[in-house]
Amino acid sequence: MNRVLRCSFVAGVMVSVFSFQSCAQTKNATQKSTSDAAKVSPTEVSMAAGKLVYNQNCLVCHQADGGGVPHLNPPLSQTDYVLGEKARLIGVVLNGLDAHEPINDEVYSNVMPAHNFLTDQQIADVLTFVRNSFENKASAVSVAEVKAERAKKK
Ligand code: HEC
Repeated sequence: MNRVLRCSFVAGVMVSVFSFQSCAQTKNATQKSTSDAAKVSPTEVSMAAGKLVYNQNCLVCHQADGGGVPHLNPPLSQTDYVLGEKARLIGVVLNGLDAHEPINDEVYSNVMPAHNFLTDQQIADVLTFVRNSFENKASAVSVAEVKAERAKKK
């Protein structure tokens, strides 16, 4: 009985430590990037937050260097989608892409899943990061721009 009690106490402490940590991390990332969201040029803060979102949601297909995978997943370096109209770029992340039209002269057979589960802030940060990494240089994407695009759907 005693041992069982001690065990569940230890387990309880571990669970609370874990949730406290992940809670603190999330809060930190959101707080930091919100204050800079309105600025047009990319800030270090949104670049750092965007890199985290990228590593967790995009890297598996588009790779760490944004180079993609030949014939499967397109690169995110110097493409019309990445550097062009922001509304279309935001739309790709929100709705996914299943067009298989040439991207910089090559066709990619994999399907890009919709990422509408990401928050407006996360999408703004990840696209600001993508537009200013992998040899890209373009203006930041704001939370307001993502919000406007999301509102168009439904
Ligand atoms: C499961 C693999 C997969 C994941 C995960 C994924 N993508 Fe894609 N992405 C693709 C594929 C495949 C295409 C091309 C689809 C087509 O041609 O119809 C694409 C297309 C794109 C494009 C437009 C084409 C280009 O190369 O410029 C952008 C921009 C893009 N993805 C960004 C992202 C971002 C940002 C994330 C993370 C939030 C992400 N993708 C996550 C597979 C993926």
